[in-house]
Amino acid sequence: MNAGSEPRHESIPELDIVSHDVYERGVPFAAYDRFRSEAPVAWVAEGPHNGHHGAGFWSLTRWQDVVDVHKDWRTFSSELGGTEIEEMAPDAIAARRTMLETDPPRHTRLRQLVNPAFSKQTMQRYSAGANRLIDRLLDGVVGAGPFDAVAGLARELPIRMLVDILGVPHDDAPQLFHWADQIVYNADPDYVDEQVGDVSDRADTDPYRLLPFRSPVSLKVFDHFERLAAARRTDPAADVITVLADATVDGVPLSERERGTFLLLLLIAGNETTRHALTQALIALARHPEQFARLRAEPDLIDTAVEEVLRWACPQVHFRRTATAGTQIGEQAIDAGDKVVTWYVAANFDPAQFTDPYTFDVGRTPNRHVTFGGGGPHLCLGQWMARLEARVFLEALVRRVDHVELAGPVERLRSNFINGIKRCPVILHPA
Ligand code: HEM
Repeated sequence: MNAGSEPRHESIPELDIVSHDVYERGVPFAAYDRFRSEAPVAWVAEGPHNGHHGAGFWSLTRWQDVVDVHKDWRTFSSELGGTEIEEMAPDAIAARRTMLETDPPRHTRLRQLVNPAFSKQTMQRYSAGANRLIDRLLDGVVGAGPFDAVAGLARELPIRMLVDILGVPHDDAPQLFHWADQIVYNADPDYVDEQVGDVSDRADTDPYRLLPFRSPVSLKVFDHFERLAAARRTDPAADVITVLADATVDGVPLSERERGTFLLLLLIAGNETTRHALTQALIALARHPEQFARLRAEPDLIDTAVEEVLRWACPQVHFRRTATAGTQIGEQAIDAGDKVVTWYVAANFDPAQFTDPYTFDVGRTPNRHVTFGGGGPHLCLGQWMARLEARVFLEALVRRVDHVELAGPVERLRSNFINGIKRCPVILHPA
């Protein structure tokens, strides 16, 4: 890997943008800024110093490079090495593969199965329900003193919407979403499975390497989904589980494992990320009261406010691609097989793309953030769902809240993958 060409941009040794510990303390914005200006396509070695165990990777922090790589899926494959930094053997890649780790044309077929359920048009049907739900949630917390915005607000809206779209019985939701947390937050001691410990990229978790995120908890989710799919075969409904229960691709039925990983992808992607976008929206409004006052005075700014919240929050920190052939990124030669990591948060604060990127501006336009990816075939399936949630959330706050106060320390997730907030004490002062 990277044998033919000597890397020109070495990493900046004193800067760490990879370790989970770094992100638990805060997003390393200053380090991203230095990488972007001094080594925008930097070769980052992996090892004990950053908790990863591969051959190293190219690290991209410029907006333009992230967009170019995402659009050129032929050269930068999601399928060859998967989309996580973790180095996986071919059997693990195959066993864990979802549409996220599949290149066209098969990716297109898989995505067509679920596109209708998440389209912009379909989402409009959920708007009234989402409004009612957020109002009910706010009834209990506006003016009621300090509460945890994650548990009390931000976690609930995405889960309840997703349950309806997928077709998960409401009684099953708490268990399923608890498992989803354990699976994806696999580097945070607050969430990891009691019996297994930290299941992130570690050699002693090898027994689980064929399971998503190396987490044995995923087996429980697969079992549960199979029972739900069996029930839908005799009692179909207008939901995604019904669609996937008997889905075929090019005439071949999905295997039980493919169905399981597909639904698990939706379960995780549909709730974890949006939860953090809503929490980060509250934090931004608390720290920039003048922007909240501006939005309250000019509610027509709601569209630009939603996009700015999404740019600012950027809940997905990175994804990975693998080069299928020798190529160039900027002036840097890339070898076939090289791993390339796109740092979305860094790209969203690139001054070459965003004027005054560190200014939170609810009227920002244009705002071509890469929160949902840089474009290309994998652009987020749930972008309209996330936008709807952010919009109803902001609209309700504008209607009912005078100002947001942070009422204690914000606790961050230990993860270089999800830019997440675990607990966020706030007070919502009534309008
Ligand atoms: C603010 C919230 C969200 C963020 C930040 C986010 C982020 C992303 C990103 C960056 C990608 C691109 C991955 C790549 O190019 O490799 C992606 C893809 C995806 N997202 Fe989201 N997402 C969000 C909400 C949702 C929701 C609500 C769903 C609903 C189920 C969802 C489902 C998916 C799926 C299934 C994919 C894979 C698409 C494909 O491979 O074609 N996401 N998301």
